[in-house]
Amino acid sequence: MLNIAVIGAGRIGHVHAKTIIAHPDAALALVCDPVGDAARTLADQYGTRACERAEDVFADPGIDAVIIGSPTALHIPHLLAAAEAGKAVLCEKPIALDMKDVEAARAELDAVKSPVMFGFNRRFDPSFAAMRAAVENGRVGELEQLTIISRDPAAPPVDYIKVSGGIFRDMTIHDFDTARFFLGEITEVYAAGQNLDPAIEEAGDFDAAVVTLKAACGAVATIINNRHCSSGYDQRLEASGRDGALLAENIRSTTVRLSNAKVTDAQEPYLDFFLERYADAYRLELSAFIEAVETGAPTPTGVDDAVKALALAEAATESARTGRPVAVA
Ligand SMILES: NC(=O)c1ccc[n+]([C@@H]2O[C@H](COP(=O)([O-])OP(=O)(O)OC[C@H]3O[C@@H](n4cnc5c(N)ncnc54)[C@H](O)[C@@H]3O)[C@@H](O)[C@H]2O)c1
Repeated sequence: MLNIAVIGAGRIGHVHAKTIIAHPDAALALVCDPVGDAARTLADQYGTRACERAEDVFADPGIDAVIIGSPTALHIPHLLAAAEAGKAVLCEKPIALDMKDVEAARAELDAVKSPVMFGFNRRFDPSFAAMRAAVENGRVGELEQLTIISRDPAAPPVDYIKVSGGIFRDMTIHDFDTARFFLGEITEVYAAGQNLDPAIEEAGDFDAAVVTLKAACGAVATIINNRHCSSGYDQRLEASGRDGALLAENIRSTTVRLSNAKVTDAQEPYLDFFLERYADAYRLELSAFIEAVETGAPTPTGVDDAVKALALAEAATESARTGRPVAVA
């Protein structure tokens, strides 16, 4: 049984707390959040303890592991302090808002001995993982093109957007990791941002984007993102290879289809947003983390994956600004 503390009782903190509670090998031992009664409210929901200072989590000998769901700017300080205290770490993406912060902490990150995993939950989605396994098993031959469609039902509050690091670091980062998961290392990034929502433009960010990535293996990935999608949380993947293609469709709560005088083939809406759509992925991500901590095996994602995804986000930001492709080392 792994005693886990959740740091940050916001949107993703709630997702992780719920996932821990339902997991047979994990216990929610502590919830930490300094703002208002966020920690107390979440802790009370699951009958556990709350605190306001992350230092109290790190100093607690009853905590084996932490899940870091605090704002992105705090990820590196929280990760380093937790690891220093001997806790295993599952940290949310992205690793930082700026590569300069990674570089400044590089020596300390390299010296970390505790298991560290990053929350690229989509690797654990059963459909995406099955597609990746099919590619690995040669079911579609050499991969030529990967298409990733990721549209949110609605944008987060502008206050969140302002501190998010921008669409490429906050949202597309999942898709950069998915591209690396399927294609390996990326050598070139070409991005176009769109401003469809004036409030987000005023906050200095794009709310939609299209990115193309060239991979060292010769394949190309296309990522299509939008902070808004009127038909719901649109999450699709297509992998096209020399000998065939794989397609992961959107998921609905049932497979029932309705036809009548007004509509044909009407279906229920897509599973709404990340908690529902990726519930299995968060559960399997947690299982993979616990297994790595308990067996001492390497975590399936680590600092290197987080840094490479951030490097792609920074290259996309530059490309969208200059209108030019950006080479990635
Ligand atoms: N993997 C995913 O699917 C996913 C989904 C959403 C968010 N995220 C990531 O999770 C992180 C948080 O996002 P969110 O949407 O939950 O944001 P949020 O604003 O809803 O929650 C962040 C919480 O952290 C708290 N906080 C602030 N300072 C803190 C501190 N010093 N110690 C502890 N807690 C502190 C805030 O009070 C807030 O409750 C971001 O880095 C985001 O990129 C990942």
